[in-house]
This record gives sequence, C-alpha cells and structure tokens, in this order.
Amino acid sequence: MTTTEERRGAGGGARRLPATGALADRLGRPMRDLRISITDRCNFRCVYCMPKAVFGRDYAFLDRDELLSFEEITRIARVAAAHGVEKLRLTGGEPLLRRGVEELIAMLAELRTPDGRPLEIALTTNGAALAVKAASLAQAGLTRVTVSLDSLDDERFQAMNDVRFPVERVLAGIDAAHEARLGPIKLNMVVKRGLNDDEIVPMARHFKGTPYTLRFIEYMDVGTSNGWSLDEVVPSAEIVERIGAEMPLEPLGEAAPGETASRWRYVDGGGEIGLISSVTNAFCGTCNRARVSTEGKLFTCLFATEGHDLRALLRDGASDDELAVAMGGIWGARADRYSEVRATLTPELRAARQKIEMSYIGG
Ligand code: GTP
Ligand code: 5AD
Ligand code: SF4
Ligand code: SF4
Repeated sequence: MTTTEERRGAGGGARRLPATGALADRLGRPMRDLRISITDRCNFRCVYCMPKAVFGRDYAFLDRDELLSFEEITRIARVAAAHGVEKLRLTGGEPLLRRGVEELIAMLAELRTPDGRPLEIALTTNGAALAVKAASLAQAGLTRVTVSLDSLDDERFQAMNDVRFPVERVLAGIDAAHEARLGPIKLNMVVKRGLNDDEIVPMARHFKGTPYTLRFIEYMDVGTSNGWSLDEVVPSAEIVERIGAEMPLEPLGEAAPGETASRWRYVDGGGEIGLISSVTNAFCGTCNRARVSTEGKLFTCLFATEGHDLRALLRDGASDDELAVAMGGIWGARADRYSEVRATLTPELRAARQKIEMSYIGG
C-alpha cells in the first residue's frame, strides 16, 4: 500500500522544485501547455479512437466521483500557471459532454500568469454541440476552439464517427464558433491511408480562403485499441506534395516555440495549412505539454504508460505549495520523447507497451 508521504513525493524524488515559473525538465524543456481531459466519454465512436468493439455498451467509463471536480481542476491549473503554464486546453473524450463546462471555463478564466496575464483557454471538440454552445462558451471566457473534422463527405463522415452524426451539423457548429469569435479556429483532420486520404485535396480546396486553418495529422499509434500500422500513415511530405500540385504552397516559420504543426501557406494568398508530423518528423525536442487525465493523473507524454496521481494528493489535503513541489518534481524528472524513439522500436516492443488511450487523455 502506498502511504500519503510516498504519494506526495510521487515522481519527485528528493528534488524540491517550488513554483518559480522557471521549471525545466531533464531535456531543458519548460512546461507551457497544460491539457486537461474533463471527461472520458464521447458521443462519437471514431473508428481509429473509440472503436465500438472496445468502447461498447458494457465499457466501464469513470464514475462521477472519480472525476476531478471543477475546484480540483482549477487548483491544478493555478499551480501549473505558477510553474510557467500559459495555455490550457480542455479535451476529453468530448469535453462539451461535461455538465457545467462553462462554469469551469469561467473559473479558469480568473487565473493569471506570475506576471498578471490571463491564460489562453482552448478546447478541442468534435463540434457536435458547438452550434448550441458556442455563444455560452465564449461568454464564459473560452479563447478559442479546435474542431476535429476528418471528412466532408457525409456518408464517409457518418461511417467514421460510427454514430451516423451528419457532417452538416459540425460545419454549422464551426460557423457558430466563428461568429462567437472563438478563433482563430483550427480544424484537425486525422489522415489514415485507405480510409480518408482521398479527401486531403478536397478538404484543402474547401477551406482555402476561409478563416479556418486546416491541419493534417499523421495517424499515430496512440493507445492500444486502434491496431495501428505504419502502412496506414500518410507522411506529411506526401500531403504537401498532393495539395501543392494543385494549389502551390510555400513553408512558413514557427508561430510559437514548441508548436505541434509545421505551417505552409498558399502562394496565391489563400491562407495557410498545418502539418502535424509526429510519425515522420517528431517534435519532442521542444515538447512543453503536460497532460492531466479525467481522474487527475499527470502524464508527461501522450505515450506514457503511467501517470502521477495528483487527485490523491488533493484529496489527502495537500496545500498548493505541496502540490507545486510534487508537480515540479514530476516535470523536473521528465525525459519522455516517445515519438523520436518510436522508429527504433520493433512492432513487438511497440505492441507490448501499455499506452493510455487518446479518449482518456485527450489529444
Ligand atoms: P494549437 O495551440 O492550436 O496549435 O494546438 P495544438 O496543436 O497544441 O493542439 P491540438 O489539440 O490541436 O493537437 C492536434 C493534434 O496533434 C492532436 O490531436 C494530436 O494528434 C497531436 N498532438 C498534440 N500534442 C502532441 C504531442 O505532444 N505529441 C504528439 N506526438 N502528438 C501531439
Ligand atoms: N492519431 C492522431 N490523432 C488522433 N486523434 C485521435 N486519435 C488519433 C490518432 N490515433 C485526434 C482526434 C482529435 C484529437 C482529440 O485527437 O482526431 O483531433
Ligand atoms: Fe472521435 Fe474525438 Fe470522440 Fe475520439 S474523442 S471518438 S476522436 S470525437
Ligand atoms: Fe511530447 Fe511525448 Fe508527444 Fe514527444 S511523443 S511530442 S514527448 S507528448
């Protein structure tokens, strides 16, 4: 059995790292971005993320009292801000399914960086509830949304979300978010060869010249339920080539340090696209992202096999200072760089690794 004292030291070893805003991990990377999963449930069953065969009627989602409360989430975010976090991203599952999400956003909007600036508060959604919720989310203090959109073809879209949700309603949600000024809005398309790669060029064509930035994501081996294989990945270089053949592109520089996407713009001024190449061009070297799962575990990598139990600390009555020391210790000990290491693993080693599911930790 683990004692409270042992848990308080979770991952921290003997290093005491108070919240100075100058935290760095073992590879010198700061903690800037905190992604918080606020529910493990989703109303979609995307075939590559929550396949029905695994996430069926009998799947045991977390109970309500296992989830972090809004107060607990806000405390963790406050301490993270003291450690240098400037951006929060709410994820899921589908974050808009969490009851009272606007109330949580309003609480997070009160937080400040050590030099007094509000944090950026973003949210990644499947867009199903956006048409209804965009205005109230903006009113609560949400800065912007990113919407997942894997296809424009209604038949294909419905087959991919596997709950027959029509694409029109997501497109209406994106427009509602734009009207509510939840921008700049990014649209994330996960590309899986043989499933939706024939839509790369039509999607680019559709969103060229709109206020939305389309980003193509290389299909990754997250979790253990999507049966990933390298043949299903369409390398970003191929995506740029396919789009560029019809609509010439040129590379753009990095917008912010540690960004996931490399940016390209249309030569004719039709806007930009992003490529998230975590398989063919890993970006671990500048990774400043920490993740908190729905039940309050801190993960230092999307591909981690284990998290650090912050909820236990909170529920054992730890002070903000104690929480800061624990989080500082965990981050200080961090050396993760899975995407860079992936290529050196054999398929057997990859399969043996019990990674967490994307629907549990969010993107
Ligand atoms: P912006 O602040 O809008 O640039 O967002 P972001 O790119 O940081 O976050 P988003 O949730 O839009 O991430 C897009 C996708 O990139 C995710 O769905 C993942 O597929 C992938 N991704 C995000 N962060 C990481 C990461 O740390 N490692 C890896 N390997 N992939 C990531
Ligand atoms: N590879 C890449 N991205 C993924 N997402 C879910 N599963 C994967 C995967 N295997 C993305 C979703 C969404 C975000 C939450 O994570 O499409 O954009
Ligand atoms: Fe699809 Fe996102 Fe839901 Fe996963 S969490 S099933 S990617 S909508
Ligand atoms: Fe960061 Fe891990 Fe993703 Fe690399 S694989 S970018 S370390 S989350």
